[in-house]
Amino acid sequence: MEALRIGIVTSSDSCAAGTKQDGSGPALMELVEARGWVLAGYRLCADDAEQLGAAIIELADAEAADVVLTTGGTGFSPRDVAPEVTARVCDRMAPGVAEHIRAESAKVTPRAMLSRGAAGLRGRTLVINLPGSVKAARESFGFVADQLEHAVQMIAGGGHD
Ligand code: MTE
Repeated sequence: MEALRIGIVTSSDSCAAGTKQDGSGPALMELVEARGWVLAGYRLCADDAEQLGAAIIELADAEAADVVLTTGGTGFSPRDVAPEVTARVCDRMAPGVAEHIRAESAKVTPRAMLSRGAAGLRGRTLVINLPGSVKAARESFGFVADQLEHAVQMIAGGGHD
């Protein structure tokens, strides 16, 4: 199959304000490229529902990303809104993806329970929330990456192997 097109969105107030450098976005880009996939676009936005929603929609609709990975904004802080935004911009949810990330992450740290990350489908794009630290984003990507090509084939109407 053709190389997957992956969009990456970092949701972080401090990175958007320039007081911290985004580590997780670039870390995900590296992992995506190492798999031979194509970067459909990268957006850095504040932990803001409007900005985050617009970034996901742009990558899904205008950049035709097969998968949009968001990083950050999944926790319990008052401004962590990635799951709510994902539910709003998606037409169908994919809870199993988020459940798997949490289940595997719980084997690494009990703090995995503190990520409220969600996943869903916006048209032909699979949107997956990953936690915000570089470590958590890398680990979580590793838990789902092997299934993404099959997921995208199924979204396109393909059957099982
Ligand atoms: N998942 C993995 N695999 N590894 C981690 O280190 N950290 C957790 C959790 N999920 C972690 C993880 C922590 S400490 C938090 S607070 C939540 O993700 C939410 O992170 P976020 O608010 O940056 O999205």
